[in-house]
Amino acid sequence: MLNNQKMIDEINKMKKEKNAVILAHNYQIPEIQDIADFVGDSLGLSQIAGKTEADIIVFCGVHFMAETASIISPNKKVLIPDLDAGCSLASSITAEQLREWKSENPDAVVVSYVNTTAEIKAESDYCITSSNAVKVVESIPADKKILFLPDRFLGQYVKTVTGRNMEIWSGACHVHEKIGNVEFDKIAENHPKADFLIHPECGCSSSCMLKSTTMESDNIHIVSTEGMIKHVQKSQANEFVVATETGILHRMKQFAPEKDFYPVSEESVCEYMKMITLDKLYFALLNEQYEVKVPEELAAKARLPIERMLEIV
Ligand code: 13P
Ligand code: SF4
Repeated sequence: MLNNQKMIDEINKMKKEKNAVILAHNYQIPEIQDIADFVGDSLGLSQIAGKTEADIIVFCGVHFMAETASIISPNKKVLIPDLDAGCSLASSITAEQLREWKSENPDAVVVSYVNTTAEIKAESDYCITSSNAVKVVESIPADKKILFLPDRFLGQYVKTVTGRNMEIWSGACHVHEKIGNVEFDKIAENHPKADFLIHPECGCSSSCMLKSTTMESDNIHIVSTEGMIKHVQKSQANEFVVATETGILHRMKQFAPEKDFYPVSEESVCEYMKMITLDKLYFALLNEQYEVKVPEELAAKARLPIERMLEIV
């Protein structure tokens, strides 16, 4: 087996030879973030996947992200270094369940989070990510009932902000759901000057939103992972309490090494995101494995909701 430095050199060499681009989500391990061409959130990475001139996209993230890249860039070879890198949230609804829900609400508009399978997207009218969920929902005619899926915390957040007539699927991400049990008031007492950065998938997002509107808490920010990074870049605060997967701290520290970052829980780790390692990335490029290709018939149906998501930023 090659040592890490040799592997990094080989990855960079193959990347050039094969005209490949490496995209990494903000939750990836530091070694993967450091070698990637782009690191970002679901929306940003989808935008890059749609525009890239590369022939091969290596997606260091989870399966639905690689599927989304394949749908919007059907002529590129999209690779994921580990096919088992799934997502508990994407697994929380099946296409069959969605079809049944739609049949009970024939006039409703279906809004799906990007953390869904291609089959679910193909049954949807709009796709959203955590960074544009509110804007996309606001773009839908006000008289329309909305079926929102699959994340109940993000759904509740969007419903409260927009005041829309919305039914919400009861799915959740196993990592963010647990963040609902964290004792925020105690953490706030220990870090009175910190900015609180909270992902809307968190189990606590509704109570935190309530706090941010009813208390003197303009230091609470409910944002996507990239929204967190942007906030760190512009904030005057010296301390940040971070409520999302801990992989994001690596990038935050790179942007502001002199500041302090505290995860609300060290246990907020997504085992799926962590399946992508340097050696799997090396083999992905070497053997051009594992290709994620959404069949064109399905991709054609899933493309419209994704394009709507990419238009509204
Ligand atoms: P972002 O789109 O905010 O990066 O979130 C993706 C995700 O999987 C959150 O768990
Ligand atoms: Fe899915 Fe949760 Fe992992 Fe994000 S953190 S990829 S929502 S399981």
